[in-house]
Amino acid sequence: MDVVEVDGLGKTYPKGTQALKDVSFRITKGEIFCLLGRNGAGKTTLLRILATQLRPTAGAARVFGHDVLREPRAIRPRISVVPQEARPQMMLSAWDHIRLMCMIRGMAKEEALRRTKLVMEEFDLWEHKDKLTADLSGGLRQRVILAMALIADPEILFLDEPTIGLDPLGRRQVWAMVRRLTAKGVTVLLTTHYMDEAEKLADRLAIIEKGQLAFLGTVDEAKAMAGTGMRVIVESAKANGNDREVLEPKSNTEILEIVQRSLNDGRRVTFQPPTLEDAFIKLVGGSIEE
Ligand SMILES: Nc1ncnc2c1ncn2[C@@H]1O[C@H](COP(=O)(O)OP(=O)(O)OP(=O)(O)O)[C@@H](O)[C@H]1O
Ligand SMILES: [Mg+2]
Repeated sequence: MDVVEVDGLGKTYPKGTQALKDVSFRITKGEIFCLLGRNGAGKTTLLRILATQLRPTAGAARVFGHDVLREPRAIRPRISVVPQEARPQMMLSAWDHIRLMCMIRGMAKEEALRRTKLVMEEFDLWEHKDKLTADLSGGLRQRVILAMALIADPEILFLDEPTIGLDPLGRRQVWAMVRRLTAKGVTVLLTTHYMDEAEKLADRLAIIEKGQLAFLGTVDEAKAMAGTGMRVIVESAKANGNDREVLEPKSNTEILEIVQRSLNDGRRVTFQPPTLEDAFIKLVGGSIEE
């Protein structure tokens, strides 16, 4: 079932910036869909249109079959959004944030208290409940923001660069949370500049370049389309980078020849499988050197 349908979507801001042009795609229920693109490509604009925060100027978008322009009220109770660079209020506690959000979502006092405790425990925030968010680390603040987005059991979660500034473990906690949600049937649309994040998470991804769709498909399809193959790196055993050769063999026979030759010469061989980052750079029209 498609929960998001985007057809020929366009957005021109009042002062004339054309942020999106003729974008079309679908997102299926339970998918993790990643939006990639350079700074200013139009990712946040697209996410905000789908979250009914911004009006499109061309084409159409439907969420759960409801038009974002005509029926935003049918969509809003069923989604949650974590905006880019969202920050908590420094002079409120983690507990305040989550409880207030429960009440904004319409829960009665008793239910809000019960739900606040549950969500805080789920996010390992309970031990920090009385601290002002000013006294929390960046990663814990981000966890408060994510917890706020999840109090209402959204069916679609929109995350705009959710792991920015998190340490490697913090990022993995967010990834695990995203996977737990999608396993329950929640759909997640997330933007990121971290290619490894998209590579690990995305069921499908879209690359936007200057407001237009440059790619739509799976990670493997992106790599195949960009035509980057396995790289073989040959260097002396005590490598200092000076005699490093980066080869792109075209066949398995060629790989074997390189390995044999390098062993004979006493040089070290390492393999570098194609990455999404390589594909991204090719697909948005840059070169690896840039
Ligand atoms: N409120 C606004 N008014 C006018 N122009 C805007 C507005 N918001 C964004 N833009 C412009 O629209 C284009 C797309 O911006 P957007 O924020 O969607 O990009 P992005 O892909 O999210 O970039 P980043 O990776 O830096 O977050 C940019 O040229 C930006 O300057
Ligand atoms: Mg953005």
